[in-house]
Amino acid sequence: MDVFEAVDSRISCRWFLDKPVDPMIVRDLIARAARAASGGNLQPWQVYALTGAPLAELKRQVAAHVKDRDPRHIDAEYPIYPPVMWEPYKARREEHGVQLYGALGIDRGDAPARLRQYTRNLEFFNAPVALFIGIDRKLGPGQWADLGGYIHALMYLARGHGLDTCAQESWARMHAIVRPFVKMPPEQMLFCAVSIGYGDRQHPANSFRSPRAAPEEFCRFFGFG
Ligand SMILES: Cc1cc2nc3c(=O)[nH]c(=O)nc-3n(C[C@H](O)[C@H](O)[C@H](O)COP(=O)(O)O)c2cc1C
Repeated sequence: MDVFEAVDSRISCRWFLDKPVDPMIVRDLIARAARAASGGNLQPWQVYALTGAPLAELKRQVAAHVKDRDPRHIDAEYPIYPPVMWEPYKARREEHGVQLYGALGIDRGDAPARLRQYTRNLEFFNAPVALFIGIDRKLGPGQWADLGGYIHALMYLARGHGLDTCAQESWARMHAIVRPFVKMPPEQMLFCAVSIGYGDRQHPANSFRSPRAAPEEFCRFFGFG
């Protein structure tokens, strides 16, 4: 698979097959993704990798944590989104919801089904491997941006192994459980999780292609003719 195909074929995978991933591949991904560029070569990413029994135990603890409450109303340690959205972001986010829930046949008004689908985030969509990405609290926007570089390098490299991934900010809401579980030091905070596994590309949750704005909407060209 070449780099163009890796970028083109990556999706946010929201259902994974019951198929294990070779631990050596995961170690290789974690190491190779660190070739990502970072300002000043700070390499600010902190990675926690889970599979097997520890992953199952974490999912059990999180399920107990959210048993009687709505996980969407639990705060992360950082604002995942601004409290009020505006255009063009508002429409893009809404369209994403329409695509995802539409593909799953979940009605706009079906609040229990929407909650159930959201809760699948906290099961890593059945993925056999999960990463948590942390960062030193004292680092700033430049280093947070570097985390995105690391995560994307890893997601594209995963395609090279035929693997799928899903970056998941929803896990930031579970910091009270995740941080002690992975023994994250107090000076770090949890940014997100990344699910890794062999995607079930036939599953309805993976059946749509997310749209993108045309370059003319987000880029001003100078001197290109
Ligand atoms: C940092 C980050 C966090 C994300 N968090 C979630 C999440 O918690 N749950 C989820 O289902 N998708 C999550 N996504 C996936 C986005 O919804 C997805 O990237 C976007 O809709 C574009 O679709 P695509 O990745 O399939 O191209 C996240 C993506 C990124 C980059």
